[in-house]
Amino acid sequence: MPRYFIWTIGCQMNKAESQQIAGYLDSAGYQAAASFSNADLVILNTCVVRHSAENKVLGTLGLLKGLKNKHPNLQILVTGCLVDSDTHELKRRFPHVDLLFKPGDYPELIAWSQRRGVPVEQRLLRYPRNDDGMTPLPCAFIPIIQGCDNFCSYCIVPYRRGREVSRPLGEIVCEVEELVRRGVKEVTLLGQNVDSYGHNLPGHPDLADLLNELSSIDDLARIRFLTNHPKDISLKLIDTVASLNRVCEHLELPVQSGDDDILKAMRRGYTVEQYRELVHTIRCKVPQISLSTDIIVGFPGETEEQFEHSLSLVQEMRVDVVHVAAYSPRPGTIAWREYQDNIPVEVKKKRLNKIEELQTAIASKINSHLQGKQMEVLVEGRKKGKWFGRTRSNKLVFFEDAGDWVAQLARIQIEKTSPWSLRGEVKKIIN
Ligand code: SAH
Ligand code: SF4
Ligand code: F3S
Repeated sequence: MPRYFIWTIGCQMNKAESQQIAGYLDSAGYQAAASFSNADLVILNTCVVRHSAENKVLGTLGLLKGLKNKHPNLQILVTGCLVDSDTHELKRRFPHVDLLFKPGDYPELIAWSQRRGVPVEQRLLRYPRNDDGMTPLPCAFIPIIQGCDNFCSYCIVPYRRGREVSRPLGEIVCEVEELVRRGVKEVTLLGQNVDSYGHNLPGHPDLADLLNELSSIDDLARIRFLTNHPKDISLKLIDTVASLNRVCEHLELPVQSGDDDILKAMRRGYTVEQYRELVHTIRCKVPQISLSTDIIVGFPGETEEQFEHSLSLVQEMRVDVVHVAAYSPRPGTIAWREYQDNIPVEVKKKRLNKIEELQTAIASKINSHLQGKQMEVLVEGRKKGKWFGRTRSNKLVFFEDAGDWVAQLARIQIEKTSPWSLRGEVKKIIN
C-alpha cells in the first residue's frame, strides 16, 4: 500500500483542508506515514501570510529536493497559499514538484490521482479520526466560506484564496450530521471572514441561520466559528450566540491596531471606538464570552504613539487571548505597493514583546479567577501523559486520570492556572 505524509502549516483552514486530503487519500487506498522519509507521496500544505511562514515552506521544499534525488519515485504535491495563479513560474522554480494545486482545488488532486490509476472516491468527507489513525476525533473543523473580499492592505490571503464563496447551508448541515453520527461532538465552522457567510447564496442565509440549523442536531454538544470580521458581525449573530446553548461563549475578533489612522491605512473598515462599542455590546449580551484578538505591530509608518494606542487598547479590553504579529510586507498587497516597510526589525520586536508581556499578565489574572471553579471539558486526547481538552471558552485544560476519557465531556475542578492553560481534577462525566 502506498504511504502518504502531509506537512501542514498556517491557519485552521489549512488544517481542515489537510484533513480532507487525508480523508480522500485514505479512501483512495493510501496509508498514512509517520514522516517524510517513509512516504511515497508527500503533500505540503503551505502558508505565506508572513515572510517567516514562506521561508519555512521554501526550506521544506529544499529538503524534499534532496529526498527526491535519493528516491526519484517520491511524488511531491504542493497546495495551500504558496500556490498562486502563476503555477508555471512555480513549476519553473520547483521542478521537483509533481503537482501544484490551489487551496481547496480537490478536482485537480483527484484528476492527478486518476491519471496515476488510483480508483476514484469523489466524496471528500473526512473520516473523523486522530493522527494516530485509531482514536476517534471529537472535534472537527468545517470550512463554510472560502476566500476573502476584504483586501486589508497588508494581507495576501485574498490574492491566494480568491473571492468569497459560501457553501450551501444544506450541504454543511448534512456534513455535520454525518460527522456527528461518526462520533464528533464539537464543530468549528471556518472562514477567513466567517461572519459574512451566505451573502452570495440564493435566499441569503446567514451564519445565524446556520447556527440555528446546526443547533437542532442531537448529540452535537458544541459549535464554534472563526474568524469574525468586526465590520461584518451582526446583532442578529450576537443574539444567536447568546440564545443557543450549544454555541460556545468564544469569539475571535481581530482588531489589528488600536489607532484609527493605522486602521484606515490597513483598510479595516472600522474605528477603535466602533470596535470598543462592539465588544461592549457582546459582553452585555453574552456576559461569559471569552474573546481573542489579533494585533499587527510595526505597520508602515506606525509611530511610537500609535503603537501605544494598540498597547492601551489591549490593556483596556482585557481579552482572553491576543495573537501579536510583526508586520511583514507581502508581495502584491496594497501596503507592499504603497508604503515602505520602514519600522526597523528591533523596534517591531520590542513592540511585539511589550504587547505579549502585557497580555501574559492579563491572561494570568483572568485565568487565576477560574481556580476552584468546575468547568466542562471536551477531552481531545493525551499529551505528555495527561488528558487534555478545552472548555467552552476555549481554555486548554490538562488532568490526570486512569480512565479512558477520549471524546468524553468531563466536569473538571480547576486547581492550577497559568496564562496559557489550566490544570484540574475530574469530578464526573457529563452526558
Ligand atoms: N481573516 C482573518 C485572519 C487572516 S490572517 C482576519 O481578518 O483577521 C491571520 C492573521 O495574520 C491576521 O489577523 C493578522 O493579524 C496577521 N497578518 C496577516 N497579514 C500579515 C502581514 N502581512 N504581516 C503581519 N501579520 C499579518
Ligand atoms: Fe486578510 Fe483582511 Fe481578509 Fe482577514 S479580512 S483574510 S486580514 S484581507
Ligand atoms: Fe496562511 Fe493562507 Fe491561512 S496564507 S494563514 S494558510 S489563509
